[in-house]
Amino acid sequence: MSEQAGILGSYWLQTLPPGDPAPAPEGDLTVDVAVVGAGVAGLSTAWELVRRGRRVAVLEADRIAAGVTGHTTAKLSAQHTLIYDRLRRSRCEEGARLYARSQTEAIRRAAEIAHELGVDCDWEDTASYTFVQGRHRVPELRAEAEAARAAGLPAEFVTETGLPFPVAGAVRVSEQAQFHPRKYLLALADGIRRGGGQLYEGTRVVGLSEGEPCVLTTDRGVRITARDVVVATHYPVFDRALLFTRLSPRRELVVAAPVDASDAPDGMYITPEHRTRSVRTAPYEDGRRLLIITGEHFTPGTGRDVEERFATLTGWAARHFGELRITHRWATQDNDSTDSVPLVGPLHPAAHHVYVATGFGGWGMTGGIMAGRLLCDQITGRDNPWSGLYDPRRIASVVREGGQFLKHQAKVARHFVGDRLTSLPHGGRTPVDDLAPGEGVVVPVGGRHVAVHRDESGQLHAVAARCTHMGCLVAFNRAERAWECPCHGSRFAPDGSVLQGPAVRPLRPRKI
Ligand code: FES
Repeated sequence: MSEQAGILGSYWLQTLPPGDPAPAPEGDLTVDVAVVGAGVAGLSTAWELVRRGRRVAVLEADRIAAGVTGHTTAKLSAQHTLIYDRLRRSRCEEGARLYARSQTEAIRRAAEIAHELGVDCDWEDTASYTFVQGRHRVPELRAEAEAARAAGLPAEFVTETGLPFPVAGAVRVSEQAQFHPRKYLLALADGIRRGGGQLYEGTRVVGLSEGEPCVLTTDRGVRITARDVVVATHYPVFDRALLFTRLSPRRELVVAAPVDASDAPDGMYITPEHRTRSVRTAPYEDGRRLLIITGEHFTPGTGRDVEERFATLTGWAARHFGELRITHRWATQDNDSTDSVPLVGPLHPAAHHVYVATGFGGWGMTGGIMAGRLLCDQITGRDNPWSGLYDPRRIASVVREGGQFLKHQAKVARHFVGDRLTSLPHGGRTPVDDLAPGEGVVVPVGGRHVAVHRDESGQLHAVAARCTHMGCLVAFNRAERAWECPCHGSRFAPDGSVLQGPAVRPLRPRKI
């Protein structure tokens, strides 16, 4: 995102910025497994496969662990707000138990890998809390504590949390952890290279031909032949099972401020109230801690101005933690599945060699590490106890979660069909004439919609306004200087280049 004076982007990227890029492949490649995407899910999968002796190539469109993973809050927790009570109703007790075990196993696995790599990734064992301040929600939390305990987590209902403000109640889960995601993942990337894996940056995969073997093509025309392909691009760039009908993109804002270590709450926290607020701290300069607060979620490309949302989040932080000097702010993006369970496994019912990992719903650290283990087992022919739980081909749960499914589809249809009905103006001043520096607007020009941005120097930049994924209209996010698609969350720079998929092609330049 763009930076204001004194306000840096992601703390994880600021403290460990990308170095020299790993070069793109110069010629065609043949490997056992090609992994598309070098975030936590892609790198974890590559690591597990390299350890089992597979020849692996990881293909990253941008930089390693710099996309969604570089903007996460990096909680390693099996407590996912209020999921266990919901899971035991939708997936029975056994489903909730499998979920808890798989996510707990991911924390254990991350600790094991960090130890093996010998990396100092600011690992901290801590407890996690889901809290509420409204008394009317206490019964919900008591039910969640009981469900989480029944699922096998060390969970209890408490009223003391270590937060500097009172809560009506909380579910506390001990034996969780937090870390610096880039310190961990860049060490993991080095480990993959040392194990013989190949990592390529600046390599956007734009084509997939499924078969035996599969063939991927990149934007530079390079072909990668692989027996198996893993699509770990956050929102899948290849979607032959129409997973986009079951995934909703959600953008969330983050503000961070240094606090004295004695004032820092000793845990990881989340509340479903106030459009969600998540709190953790991390080691900072001079023995202080960095208080990291996340919230104000919204669908990309819709709704209130993002600057206003940042102000709301900062106001909440000040009311709950006192006067703060915000030093960092950034945004993160998640995909929620219709049944709140990630989609990890074969990409579609007929897929034998193409796999996907997506829909982590804000819990991508444990979800991605779990996906690495699960996909490695599937590719190497080993049984895995959680295959069924996360299987993207599960149909029954879509039927069960039909309400969410239909709600999401109605929203997409509105942006797709409704947007196409926007009428064109007939002469006179256009909104472009009134566009202030730093703003963007979509206008109809010559029968087509054009996305126009005026930069700080007053220069106009115009690109096609139809998202290259499936044709919805993009909208401008002024705070982050980006065009965003409300349908599936693709994001584009003012010059039209892709910042985030599922779109893989840029918005074409337009004349105005
Ligand atoms: Fe799917 Fe834009 S992201 S239409």
